[in-house]
Amino acid sequence: MNPLELLIGTWRGKGTGEYPSIAPFSYIEEIKFQDNGFRDVIQYEQRTWLDEARTSPSHWETGLIRLLGEHEIEIINAQIGRRVEVLVGDIELKGPQHFVIDLNSITIANDVRMVGTQRHIEISGNQLFYTMSMAMTKVPTTTHHLQATLVRGLECGSLETPSSDLFETYDS
Ligand code: HEM
Repeated sequence: MNPLELLIGTWRGKGTGEYPSIAPFSYIEEIKFQDNGFRDVIQYEQRTWLDEARTSPSHWETGLIRLLGEHEIEIINAQIGRRVEVLVGDIELKGPQHFVIDLNSITIANDVRMVGTQRHIEISGNQLFYTMSMAMTKVPTTTHHLQATLVRGLECGSLETPSSDLFETYDS
């Protein structure tokens, strides 16, 4: 089974963010994963907003996800904050529709404040949960920044406002 195939589609949900140097915040998120016929590479785009009406855009990121081996995975991305990042890590299959990915940055460029990042991603069927932590020069210990839960929905126009029911379901 190819775990990348299990990501294809549009996922929407809600997350919270924090860091010692900033005020806590919540956000809504949409991630689209799509393939172009390569067995080992897919493309993704992640968009976020600080309000459900999507009037306050926040983080925006796009990149490629590549299987390097049966249990090794790489993400190469470009971010709205002008950063580019390469992360590598393990992919562990826990069941037919269930896998866990743990990634560490091996490169972060174009943001001298950054030291390193970590991402933990769990996919189970149509649910996706992730956390992201980072170290900066001013906060050198890797420290929690984000967590979010998304569900894969029906394909629809990218500007469609997500249903608030969905967010209520994943509020906890
Ligand atoms: C869901 C994705 C993300 C959201 C919604 C998000 C949101 C935010 C918000 C609202 C802030 C505070 C305001 C600001 O400085 O712009 C912030 C700060 C920051 N974020 Fe994120 N972020 C996301 C992903 C990332 C990623 C992937 C990285 C790095 C790889 C990152 C690095 C930072 C940094 C370096 C700061 C500044 C912290 C400081 O100045 O002390 N963020 N983020």
